[in-house]
Amino acid sequence: METLLQLKPTPSLVSNQQLPVVNSYNEWDPLKEVIVGRVEGAAVPKLEPALETNSYPSNLWFFQKYGGQPFPQELIEAAAKELNEFCRILEAEGVTVRRPDVIDFTQPYKTPDFEANGFYAAMPRDILIVVGNEIIEAPMAWRSRFFEYRAYRSLMLDYLRRGAKWTTAPKPSMSDEFYDVDFATKPVEVRYALTEKGHFVSRDTEPSFDAADIVRFGRDLFVQRSHVTNNIGITWLKRNLGDKFRVHEINFPDLNPMHIDASLVPLRPGLALINPARPCIQTDLFKKAGWDLVEAAPSTLPDNWPMYMCSSWVCMNILSLDPETIVVEKQEQPMQKLLKDLGFKVIPVDFRHVYTFGGSFHCATCDVRREGQLEEYGF
Ligand code: NVA
Repeated sequence: METLLQLKPTPSLVSNQQLPVVNSYNEWDPLKEVIVGRVEGAAVPKLEPALETNSYPSNLWFFQKYGGQPFPQELIEAAAKELNEFCRILEAEGVTVRRPDVIDFTQPYKTPDFEANGFYAAMPRDILIVVGNEIIEAPMAWRSRFFEYRAYRSLMLDYLRRGAKWTTAPKPSMSDEFYDVDFATKPVEVRYALTEKGHFVSRDTEPSFDAADIVRFGRDLFVQRSHVTNNIGITWLKRNLGDKFRVHEINFPDLNPMHIDASLVPLRPGLALINPARPCIQTDLFKKAGWDLVEAAPSTLPDNWPMYMCSSWVCMNILSLDPETIVVEKQEQPMQKLLKDLGFKVIPVDFRHVYTFGGSFHCATCDVRREGQLEEYGF
């Protein structure tokens, strides 16, 4: 039996690099260790208020038909193959790859407040964020994601034992009071009009955020209020990180906001990708800090590609291996060209079947350790 004395009180250093085992301050420093999600065991969530709000009406049939069942086997196999090859490529680049446990997410569960079944552990970025030597488990806001953390518990325990600071943010009850339950049932135009006025499906009764609504630029972090990240969740985040960091709220003209990493993606100090379909409202903040914002190139994805949970703007959801090297989807040639013209080395990797599960390389990873330390980048 492990005793408390065996837990190391201070971050242990990884011998060859002299870095704490958990150490990451931004999205571009040289990557040393990463968690890559998996689709084995994935279930299609049943419709619930927040999921219904975040789905496009044309996709509702998928959740109505398969909700509570495993994801169709052919989708799982195709995406698992791409994820495994992505892991092999990362390892060949010298990155340590860790994977979540396989869990059967079709298992139903019941809390005092609701009943649901699970979703998946395909997108670690949604639930985990590393800020310095602290790894934070986000509360999340979909009922189908309430127990998602279980797939990462053995990894979190390992990082804790090796000296990391592991924090779990308080989870909302996800009771009916937490949601504006009528929001999802309103016509899309009404929902969009409400979103433009700052009205979202999650209410401010209890903190919630998804880690993927946050993007890290060293001392400065940017977060968006979205359907899954509420104001009191942002307050919790600010207070938890303390004075060492500055958390800025930014917004985009996004009528279905959930996850910032297909809207704003930093590439290296002074250069970030922005989404031309939803340019950041606070562009001046970046310009004043000396950052160039470059418009991402649109996706080459065919219109009939199955996309149940995100837009094709995940073509800009890239993973930086260092400030000069970026993993980009193999068939996104316009994005590849744009990045090469900016001086980057591009590593093309097949990932379109993973898109179908709601994200690309940034979503499907959580960088646990990058070289580098806390720095400021002009803000
Ligand atoms: N919800 C956004 C971000 C996905 C990573 C989109 O669909 O574009």
